[in-house]
Amino acid sequence: MRSPSKVNLFLEVAGKRDDGFHELETVMLRTNFCDDMRFRCRRDDQVMLRLSRQSCSSVHEFFPLDNSNLIAKAAHALNEYTGLKRGVDVLVNKMIPAEAGLAGGSGNAATTLLALNKLWQLDLDRSCLHTIAASLGSDINFFLAEAPAAVCRGRGELVEPLCVGGRISVVAARPPRGNLTADVFSAIEKHDELRSVQETIAALQTGSPEAIGHAAFNRLTQAAAMLNPEMADLMVQMRQICGRPVIMSGSGSTCFVLGRTSREARVLRRRMSGLKTSFLACFDSF
Ligand code: C5P
Repeated sequence: MRSPSKVNLFLEVAGKRDDGFHELETVMLRTNFCDDMRFRCRRDDQVMLRLSRQSCSSVHEFFPLDNSNLIAKAAHALNEYTGLKRGVDVLVNKMIPAEAGLAGGSGNAATTLLALNKLWQLDLDRSCLHTIAASLGSDINFFLAEAPAAVCRGRGELVEPLCVGGRISVVAARPPRGNLTADVFSAIEKHDELRSVQETIAALQTGSPEAIGHAAFNRLTQAAAMLNPEMADLMVQMRQICGRPVIMSGSGSTCFVLGRTSREARVLRRRMSGLKTSFLACFDSF
């Protein structure tokens, strides 16, 4: 099964909650840049993870094979919810970089919930899967909704699907170092005025990359740039090369620009090939 990634076209933080999380309003766009996951039933109750040899080399240190991996957590959460003790072998061909703001780990967890619901013949409905997803992390519910885009609120787990006016092409670059989500949220400074999401929603519905790029906003950018100066430099260089807004995805450290077409996105990627990145790729909305 293909396990997708996302980019954020808008992210505003409305404040810190009593549970320590931040109240968000964010627009996520699902992309066709995916990991591949294979699931096979086991006779015993073990959840065994393997990383395929074709996986991109930088992911190994970020892909634990034990129960701390969100894939294993998702499988165990399903067993706990249903009172069963099923086992599974999971093989992951990992392409989506870690600590990148692309929600690769959350995509894997959502794909695991959908795949095992079928493979283990659990027949859980979407609302059960959403409850389990929300207990595991903030971005998993978006992928479970299987929408091309959505406004996500609360911690990120309350998903309102959106229409997208056309295919959107992205050129994404991750600097050598990633960002830790918790550190970025801890570093945000107080702000009085909240940005409205409406301009981004309207732009997304037109499908115009220029309009979407100009409406894009991410409240976490300043905090992340302070923690990761190489990312801040990369954003400046991308802006110079591409001459258009550069947007940070989630808590970073991946930053992206929108191409006018997928062909133009490939041209921009080539122009960016001399930059100091650990990951540079073009992909499209789903
Ligand atoms: O839910 P997830 O595992 O993606 O969150 C990682 C960390 O990011 C949390 O432990 C929390 O510190 C921070 N976070 C937050 N507010 C959110 C989402 C994440 O403070 N809405």
